[in-house]
Amino acid sequence: MRVLFLLVFILSLLGAPFSSLAQNVTPLSELQWTLTNPNHSISVPGHVPSQAHLDLYDAQVVGDPYYGLNDFTLRWVAETNWTYTASLASVGISSNATSWLVFNGLDTFSTISVCNQQIATTNNQFRQYYFDISKAISHCNVPTININFGSAPNIADELANTSLNEPWKGSQLTSEFPNRWLIRKEQSDFGWDWGPAFAPAGVWQPAYVVQLSNKQLYVRNTLLDIYRQGQLNNLPPDQTKPWVVNASLDVLGDIPQDAGLLIEIKDASNRTVTSGVGKNVTVSGGAISGSIVVEDSAVKLWWPNGLGPQNLYYATVTVLNSGNTIVSSTKRTAFRTIVLNMEPISQRQLDQGVRNGNNWHFEINGHEFYAKGSNFIPPDAFWPRVTTTKIQRLFDSVVRGNQNMLRVWASGAYQPDFIYDIADEKGILLWSEFEFSDSLYPVAESFLDNVREEAIYNVRRVNHHPSLALWAGGNELENLELYLAKLLDPGHYSRWQKEYETLFLDVLLPVVYENSRSISYIPSSTTNGYLSLNHSAPHPMIQRYNNETEGYIYGDTDHYDYDSTVAFNLSSYPVGRFANEFGYHSMPSLQSWEEAVAPEDLHFNSTTIQLRNHHYPSGSLNTTNLPNSTKGMAEMTISVELYYPTPNKADSRANFSAWCLATQIFQADFYRSQITYYRRGSGMPERQLGSLYWQLEDIWQAPTWAGIEYSGRWKVLHYIAKDIYSPVIVAPYWNYTTGDLTAYVTSDLWETVHGTVDLTWYDWSGNVLSNVTKGPSSVAFTVGALNTTKVLQTNTKSLGRSVDLSNAVLRMNLTTEGHLPNNETATTFTHEFFYHPILSLGKARLVDPGLKLTFNDDDDDDDAAAASPAFTVEATNGVSAWTWLDFPSGVTGNFDSNGFWLVPGEPKTVGFDVKNDTTGGRWVENVTVSSLWDFTTP
Ligand SMILES: *[C@@H]1O[C@H](CO)[C@@H](O)[C@H](O)[C@H]1NC(C)=O
Ligand SMILES: *[C@@H]1O[C@H](CO)[C@@H](O)[C@H](O)[C@H]1NC(C)=O
Ligand SMILES: *[C@@H]1O[C@H](CO)[C@@H](O)[C@H](O)[C@H]1NC(C)=O
Ligand SMILES: *[C@@H]1O[C@H](CO)[C@@H](O)[C@H](O)[C@H]1NC(C)=O
Ligand SMILES: *[C@@H]1O[C@H](CO)[C@@H](O)[C@H](O)[C@H]1NC(C)=O
Ligand SMILES: *[C@@H]1O[C@H](CO)[C@@H](O)[C@H](O)[C@H]1NC(C)=O
Repeated sequence: MRVLFLLVFILSLLGAPFSSLAQNVTPLSELQWTLTNPNHSISVPGHVPSQAHLDLYDAQVVGDPYYGLNDFTLRWVAETNWTYTASLASVGISSNATSWLVFNGLDTFSTISVCNQQIATTNNQFRQYYFDISKAISHCNVPTININFGSAPNIADELANTSLNEPWKGSQLTSEFPNRWLIRKEQSDFGWDWGPAFAPAGVWQPAYVVQLSNKQLYVRNTLLDIYRQGQLNNLPPDQTKPWVVNASLDVLGDIPQDAGLLIEIKDASNRTVTSGVGKNVTVSGGAISGSIVVEDSAVKLWWPNGLGPQNLYYATVTVLNSGNTIVSSTKRTAFRTIVLNMEPISQRQLDQGVRNGNNWHFEINGHEFYAKGSNFIPPDAFWPRVTTTKIQRLFDSVVRGNQNMLRVWASGAYQPDFIYDIADEKGILLWSEFEFSDSLYPVAESFLDNVREEAIYNVRRVNHHPSLALWAGGNELENLELYLAKLLDPGHYSRWQKEYETLFLDVLLPVVYENSRSISYIPSSTTNGYLSLNHSAPHPMIQRYNNETEGYIYGDTDHYDYDSTVAFNLSSYPVGRFANEFGYHSMPSLQSWEEAVAPEDLHFNSTTIQLRNHHYPSGSLNTTNLPNSTKGMAEMTISVELYYPTPNKADSRANFSAWCLATQIFQADFYRSQITYYRRGSGMPERQLGSLYWQLEDIWQAPTWAGIEYSGRWKVLHYIAKDIYSPVIVAPYWNYTTGDLTAYVTSDLWETVHGTVDLTWYDWSGNVLSNVTKGPSSVAFTVGALNTTKVLQTNTKSLGRSVDLSNAVLRMNLTTEGHLPNNETATTFTHEFFYHPILSLGKARLVDPGLKLTFNDDDDDDDAAAASPAFTVEATNGVSAWTWLDFPSGVTGNFDSNGFWLVPGEPKTVGFDVKNDTTGGRWVENVTVSSLWDFTTP
């Protein structure tokens, strides 16, 4: 009773105003900034947050960095120092307070002066920096702030010349600017195979002047760790245990040694759910920490998209001293467990037919699920212009695309909180990574210390987000970097492996384990996992690497094969527990190209387009070096020539547009083949439980692996991925060498469902071919939870004796009813797949399908029609393959289905979700429809 009374008393205090204790925080964005180069020949208005390129573009000193070949012509911007200056007079800095500068992100090498006195230098884009400027201010009449950014490419080169502790060069992948691995800056700023190399500089995240009087505190970072009592990283917890909410505030100012914590949990409507005085409170190193226990019944679980609701809560953590509130911090959070389970395959699993080895799958709230998604790269080369609206639209496309997980690729940058917030709301799990990629990294003490600070800040900052799914040390390290080192430098391999373990197991793993018990860690995006895991051992994870037992299956897979002759050869795909990367590049649409290149450059192999294709990267700053790009252009061309009729139109713009589309069709076709293969693996001995393709979206307008273009326009891939990530699918699996043809139904529901698949053969004119296969044309099936079942077994060689395979397609139509996880309402699931028994549609007896398109004009309700217009497409004369609805520039949005097939007599109505329209609704008049047939017409 007394405890309760005390709590009520404290809670009543919380509501009381403590205006005398209010901190004085001034965002640096409010100052009038000037950006200058060293000789002051350029002096323009600057901004915070911003980057020099953006401010120069704003001031019309440079053109649009994304236009034409400006990524090459603007190299000088990256090679110059840029200084941001402002007067602090308007801040009203008081001399009796302690004044701090707090930067949530400086990109990257800066020298900071206040009142002409040097305060600090910085060298890490990913750290939060805070500096006491009280002394500098006290000797100053006209307070100014001056931030001089050095050129990152120049500094990286200097480090390469002076560093005694360089990693081995033999496996370092350079795109354009060299030596990225020596500096802590977004690695793709120096170029990548899908993006430009701008190496920007500036205050890229919010920054503040914070003034604290005696006893005031400022919360610079908040850690919330919510886990099941007894939970340990990487291991499935006991779901019957109560929750522990562990809170830790990093503050500026002196925390009284006898301070207490109050932790209060509110629901989304801010009704208090539970609260308590923090237990085990500790004060050390500028942080105050404590925890409470929350009964399981007090809160509802958070689930990813498609698996249940996204229940969110607010947690308010208040520092109390002698009954007074000193400071408090509120974070939106949720209750869920997410574990990457890499434990050995159990006897129970062996009995179910799972192949021996280890697991490699995610479990949400104790449930295995199929991870469906893609890889998220930086959405722009310039982070300060990435808006909430842009990410909301992008993540809306993720949800509409039936995806539940994105892998936030390293590197990239650690995502700002607003991006995790949107993922929290939409139920998108973010597999997150430290910013290390396709390189070995230095292990000098100063480098490791710098990395440790960066990791501590970011692990603590984002841990409260329920969307955070994993921490991985970096990209393609174990499977590519260590592999290359072993292959090319076997004599020193043990050194390279030891250095890898120093950074990824001795520095980064402890940062995760010491700050979070809720999140799993892996050292490399692709990994065979651990031999042993012991949290109390000095080295908790002992890696397996290639210590494999014949016939066992271990880790996740990363697969690229640019020899498109094997694209549909299923035996060329890897067999693993999870696919974290796979893909092939394609061209963006004509509309995207028109944003970025001049009309005369709109040819498939124009110099500008080739030089914007960075697959394969030039490997240097050489901008005239076309051979590598040419290989990539040829790969796209060959894959189209192999599998489809090739466009050859008289009108060069139309021909270019058709070729762009053709490369997208191959891309989508190839990804679909792999996704069906991986998904079917959920019911195969590999018990495969995830497929994340490369890559979700574009950083700019160029040929890349993306499914969504820079403007938000969906390529064929995103529509096809949406289709094939439906909960219950039917798909063919064809060995075109032996003729063996099967079809399987695959379900990622959490319950067994029963349904039917109708199998109907047509000729290309749309006539039903009877008696192609013996046996029923409608097959009843039962498919278990996260499982697969065969619905067809035949052979095309024998079919070919009675039917012309070039004039036949098999339509598979699935219908079933079931429940999405955590959903009481039954849903009808349908899925359709058109299979063609010849490998190349270029050799099929296509006919003109006679497509008709009508806009479903709804005169009664113009507003509704404008927000979600619909179109009807009909094939009047034959089967329409890869039917493609195209919409003009000026509108942002997507059809709800595209790239589909049609048979005559079955019109299809397709809606369009308008996200932004600058045409006043007139865009609907310029929607067009085509199909593969149109590639054959002049
Ligand atoms: C450019 O930046 C570097 C690194 O911060 C610094 O050492 C150098 O003095 C700067 N040069 C000028 C001219 O500002
Ligand atoms: C500083 O002192 C002045 C005058 O004594 C007072 O008005 C002001 O509130 C003080 N400022 C802070 C931040 O404590
Ligand atoms: C609840 O509180 C949070 C943070 O204090 C605030 O952002 C949010 O808008 C509030 N929600 C409602 C429904 O009042
Ligand atoms: C406080 O620490 C003790 C001893 O380590 C532990 O048993 C207890 O669960 C902790 N309490 C909370 C709320 O974390
Ligand atoms: C290989 O793995 C086995 C366990 O599967 C372990 O006992 C052995 O020590 C490992 N060998 C090496 C060289 O790591
Ligand atoms: C583009 O150039 C490559 C390399 O020269 C060539 O192989 C390919 O056929 C060309 N593609 C088209 C569509 O013209």
